[in-house]
Amino acid sequence: MLKLINISKTFNKNTVNQKIIFKNFNFSIAKGEFVVIIGSNGSGKSTLMNLISGKLTADEGSIKIDGVDVSNQPEYIRAKQVGRVFQDPLMGTASNMRIYENLAMASRKGKKLGLKWCISKADFEKYKNIVENLGLGLENNLNSKVGLLSGGQRQALTLLMATIQKPKILLLDEHTSALDPKTANLVLTHTKKVVEENNLTTLMITHNMNDAINFGTRLVMLSGGKVIFEASGKEKENLTAEILFKKFSDVEHCI
Ligand SMILES: Nc1ncnc2c1ncn2[C@@H]1O[C@H](COP(=O)(O)OP(=O)(O)O)[C@@H](O)[C@H]1O
Ligand SMILES: [Mg+2]
Repeated sequence: MLKLINISKTFNKNTVNQKIIFKNFNFSIAKGEFVVIIGSNGSGKSTLMNLISGKLTADEGSIKIDGVDVSNQPEYIRAKQVGRVFQDPLMGTASNMRIYENLAMASRKGKKLGLKWCISKADFEKYKNIVENLGLGLENNLNSKVGLLSGGQRQALTLLMATIQKPKILLLDEHTSALDPKTANLVLTHTKKVVEENNLTTLMITHNMNDAINFGTRLVMLSGGKVIFEASGKEKENLTAEILFKKFSDVEHCI
């Protein structure tokens, strides 16, 4: 579903601040795979997502989504097939709009909107059902402004918005790290449910070793723009936080 072929990316090229993030980087995700990425700060995780979403363009190499070369597609075109949830709960939703308006906007992403766009009763009921599924009690507050919601509620809503049109790729950039542990777990459990029910191809970044072990079908450890360890199937099931920490410190010793 996703293929990065010989990707190179350097920030501030030919200046004193030059930083090579990726050099001939190759990476792919099969349809329906749920890949969890871990890696120390600055290892290029968010840059990878920015390259996939089209926020950044690679210096070299190409990116294919579902067999189509999207390397030259601008972000707003790619957004039709890429859903994204960021770390900051304020980023994915419009505070001044109501819950149902946010959902309506997400379900029309990529479609032409007229000057006047109204929401049918049927759509309103549909949104109510979707929101009810979250188990946060938001279904009775569809008219509330999103700005009044808690961080966890907003992230759960952003996740709904990012998946309402079933994206070809779902990108989750530490989307639970700003939440308290209980809410983070609720949002993660919901993430797993949405991903599995819709067979979504997903890439999730986390800093939490236990979440990396407990969620996803493949774990990838990124360091210095390279995949230094991966595990799936039985090997992933047998991973422990100690094993992962050891892998991290092994890399640090090499530097
Ligand atoms: N737009 C940018 N311009 C310059 N440097 C950047 C930019 N984005 C990221 N970087 C640098 O690239 C490195 C990798 O960043 P990032 O991909 O955000 O890491 P992380 O793995 O923590 O998500 C960091 O050193 C960061 O400071
Ligand atoms: Mg990051």
